[in-house]
Amino acid sequence: MSKIVVTGGCGYIGSHTIIDLIENGYEVICIDNNSRSHAAALQAVTEITGKSVKHYKIDLCNYDDTYAVFEEHPDISGAIHFAAYKAVGESVENPLLYFDNNLQSLVNLLKCIDEFGVSHFVFSSSCTVYGNPDQIPVTEATPIKRAESPYGSTKQISEQIIQDYARNSAATHILLRYFNPAGAHPSALLGELPLGKPQNLVPAITQTAIGKIDKLLVHGTDYPTRDGSCIRDYIHVCDLAHAHTLALRYLEEEKNKEACEVFNLGTGTGNTVLEAISAFEQASGLPLRYEIGPRRPGDVIAIYANNDRARSVLGWQTRYTLNDIMSTAWTWEQKLRDKKTVFGA
Ligand code: WQD
Repeated sequence: MSKIVVTGGCGYIGSHTIIDLIENGYEVICIDNNSRSHAAALQAVTEITGKSVKHYKIDLCNYDDTYAVFEEHPDISGAIHFAAYKAVGESVENPLLYFDNNLQSLVNLLKCIDEFGVSHFVFSSSCTVYGNPDQIPVTEATPIKRAESPYGSTKQISEQIIQDYARNSAATHILLRYFNPAGAHPSALLGELPLGKPQNLVPAITQTAIGKIDKLLVHGTDYPTRDGSCIRDYIHVCDLAHAHTLALRYLEEEKNKEACEVFNLGTGTGNTVLEAISAFEQASGLPLRYEIGPRRPGDVIAIYANNDRARSVLGWQTRYTLNDIMSTAWTWEQKLRDKKTVFGA
């Protein structure tokens, strides 16, 4: 059984990915300092899979602590790196925090991968690396433009570091560019846990519907789109998780043509903010209280994926619809309200 280290495994996408890895026969260990996540997420993973996950609550920015994990597990064959700060607004206010944390942790991890001969490395990247694309849908060959935020810059620089490292590394690498992750595990035992007021649309919608937010603010409807609001590619977190398992398997079977390959992970369909709100209302049967506000600085007008490569090369198929995203997210929000989760209050 291959042993995989997942960094940021207590986070939203990381924890869902650990479930998929376990369900596909992998042994998983987790490195997460819980600075932006809840260790309880691994209890939910165990509840869903029946397997426990060893958790090292260390900071990847501490090289010695990171090295010690690999020293204890010299049989780690692959690494999936999620751990990073990802709040766009915070990165604008405090760029050096983002460059320090996101880049130092990546370099420390790559040093350990090199030192211990880990064979495969999968990196959590983002469609944010495309900036405001001139043409949509974007393919992996769409030119990278200036990132709209320091968070986006850390993803661009991280990709460059990995691509440069891959040239002389014995390991093989995949960069996965996520579009807009959303939704919750169908068991309703795990889902998104935004820290503080949610910046992302789907948790903002469900928190409005549950009454934690009085009214959703739609950031602008004066864009050059079919209804004036921004277009995004909302991808269910479980579809995203499964793509990581397929990416690892692709590398293990040595099907990769390059030392570092890139894949877009989106549904291939764009929806506007207003369409997403309607999808929620349809899935929940509830009208949503919202008002139209000004544009949000840094927002990309429209972006969605051409996902042909992930489908044809990785054999990836999305299984969940926008309606599934909204219904699973809504069920999860209600579980949180009723305190029927391992996350307590
Ligand atoms: C989507 C649309 C908002 C909230 C960011 C990062 C990306 C990834 C996902 C980390 C936009 C609108 C939102 C609200 C709104 N992050 N909106 N009212 O900005 O596309 O992507 O989060 O992995 O890398 O860039 O996602 O969900 O914040 O916004 O109108 O209360 O919803 O303006 O048009 P975004 P988002």
